[in-house]
Amino acid sequence: MSSANVPSSPVILAGGTGNLGRQIGRTILQAGGTLRAIVRPGTATERTADLRRAGAEIREVNFTKVTELTEACRGGGCVVSALAGLRETIVDTQTNLLEAAVDAGVPRFIPSDFSIDFTRLPRGTNRNLDLRREFRDLVNAAPIRATSVLNGMFADLLTGEAPLVLQKIKRVLYWGDADQPLDFTTIANTADYTALAALDPDTPRYLRVAGDTLTPRQLADAASEAFGTKYKPLWAGGIGALTTLIDVTRLVAPGRDQTYPAWQGMQYMRNMLSGRAKLHDLDNDRYPVIRWTRVAEVLAGTVPEQLTPELSH
Ligand SMILES: NC(=O)c1ccc[n+]([C@@H]2O[C@H](COP(=O)([O-])OP(=O)(O)OC[C@H]3O[C@@H](n4cnc5c(N)ncnc54)[C@H](OP(=O)(O)O)[C@@H]3O)[C@@H](O)[C@H]2O)c1
Repeated sequence: MSSANVPSSPVILAGGTGNLGRQIGRTILQAGGTLRAIVRPGTATERTADLRRAGAEIREVNFTKVTELTEACRGGGCVVSALAGLRETIVDTQTNLLEAAVDAGVPRFIPSDFSIDFTRLPRGTNRNLDLRREFRDLVNAAPIRATSVLNGMFADLLTGEAPLVLQKIKRVLYWGDADQPLDFTTIANTADYTALAALDPDTPRYLRVAGDTLTPRQLADAASEAFGTKYKPLWAGGIGALTTLIDVTRLVAPGRDQTYPAWQGMQYMRNMLSGRAKLHDLDNDRYPVIRWTRVAEVLAGTVPEQLTPELSH
């Protein structure tokens, strides 16, 4: 997108103190857009300092008050939600934000979806994605144009929280089929893409992207390339065995009030490994300025500094 095409109306960003939201905000500003980041009252100034320095307006808003949110949304060209949480946030707070966007006459809304393709999943297979499906029905019924960005799994998780690449034993853990393609996108790529989508007035209902798509077998090859030593896939059982593990983990460590208890991560893996939530017909080429990061680069820690000259983080 050339700066001549960047809309002058501000993007209203909720969740700008978060991991993904902060990066979305930065890219919107780097691309020449105007940004109003709405944050909770009492948010420490250092948590918004980088966005403020980059040129964002920071506005404190009580997210439980639709009238306050409406004032904060006024004049906006697009509302972007990068909120994270459970029902109170994904359904209740986003509903307030949606109502406010509609009341303020904002034409477009990007919900905090950023996931595997939950539109293809039956209810009940993933607690967190069921909340997104519930909000999807609300946003679809509202008089506003919505766009969801679906990006698979954050590739960054492969070096930390997602216990798939087992460095100690040089194995890639999987259930089901070693040749099932899985979608991975870095947080930085997802943020850049979402920022450009927020500044693009003609986005469709869904945008599907994947920085890299690898089977468990190919993930082992990527780990071999990244670490310079042979990794092999390690089969832990069929998808049914993973379901049993989820059920048992849920019993012994329910963590119902946590956004990401272990069993929820396993539900996510089951959705991916079953192939049900695979992203099809990717929209990667919509913004050619984005250079997609490969999983091997993430694992090796060699992600180039310059994703693009004007969109680097
Ligand atoms: N595809 C994947 O693998 C993957 C992995 C992780 C996350 N995600 C998704 O990416 C999105 C962003 O996640 P993240 O990791 O960037 O989240 P995060 O770092 O935890 O940030 C969450 C943001 O939401 C705000 N927030 C939460 N509840 C709120 C409420 N009730 N009212 C107002 N603000 C609230 C937080 O504000 P405060 O700073 O004030 O708390 C913060 O700005 C989510 O949709 C998440 O599910 C996807």
